[in-house]
Amino acid sequence: MKRIAVMTTGGDAPGMNPAIRAVVRTAIGNGLEVAGIEEGYSGLLEGMFREMDVSSVGGIINRGGTILRTVRSKDFHDREIRQRAYIHLESAKIDGVISIGGDGSRRGLYAITKDTGIPTCFIPASIDNDVYGTDYTIGYDTAVNVGLDAIDRIRDTAGSHERTFIVEVMGREHGFLALEIGLTGGAEVIMIPEFKEDVDIKKTAAKLIQGFKRGKSSNIIVMAEGVGLSSDVAAKLEKITGLETRYTVLGYIQRGGTPTAMSRKLGLMFGYEAVKTLKGMKKGDSRMVGICGNKLKVSEMKNVISKERAIDAYAYKMNKIFSL
Ligand code: F6P
Repeated sequence: MKRIAVMTTGGDAPGMNPAIRAVVRTAIGNGLEVAGIEEGYSGLLEGMFREMDVSSVGGIINRGGTILRTVRSKDFHDREIRQRAYIHLESAKIDGVISIGGDGSRRGLYAITKDTGIPTCFIPASIDNDVYGTDYTIGYDTAVNVGLDAIDRIRDTAGSHERTFIVEVMGREHGFLALEIGLTGGAEVIMIPEFKEDVDIKKTAAKLIQGFKRGKSSNIIVMAEGVGLSSDVAAKLEKITGLETRYTVLGYIQRGGTPTAMSRKLGLMFGYEAVKTLKGMKKGDSRMVGICGNKLKVSEMKNVISKERAIDAYAYKMNKIFSL
């Protein structure tokens, strides 16, 4: 293996830049050439390569986003269209590919190996933390702390006005982000897709009324975007309870900001491990790096690609007691 390529794919996540920095410097430190693919799979289809050297990744460890940029590409799902990418990989003399991205973008990388045999190694990076095969994805910790800061701020104004606030967070169709933010933010109610049967407006209304009766000055509900629209739930709750209810959609602020130490460390460790792994791989190999039980873990992509991460039901149930 002489030349590898690295790209960022799917939704960006804070910590992707430390991962790119680790990949480039580990590759060069191991005698490999490294090309950056700009704009993810979309850029790969257009042959958007740029040579990377140690100075290409200077001054980025503390920057959110990704210097290689990322563009979601539906075209890459099409095997015929993917041939364009393979012509570019061949002309750029790429022997191995690393992709830094979320659950959705793992399939594209696996397809490269299945279609061409080129070895690939995946680095899990997403604020959703929904990638099976790792306890944590790059960016998740930063997004949790953005959400937590928002909850603490909203709790101030909710208390001043004795209001209920619904805070809608990202996470696509999972509740990992909402659960972590709700639990550590002291939310009275956490609404997540994995426990959709619990999202009962009447029961929630009764809980809110009960809370104010026992002297609570505010109620915070953390709601995952996969459950529905916080604006709808707020209107229904206010109608039933008669209590002033407001909502805030955190949206894309959860995707930005300087990465926390945890997000940086995962980026650095995963980037280093991915290059070391890729270097030893052979034609037809596709793997993924992750962290399990606080230890780095390399998995065969075929063993993880179609598995779903389970929500921490224990933490979810714990919060029901804390919010009495
Ligand atoms: O996958 C990360 C994520 O932020 C999800 O939480 C969110 O639903 C989605 O990306 C938004 O996608 P886009 O950036 O394409 O609007």
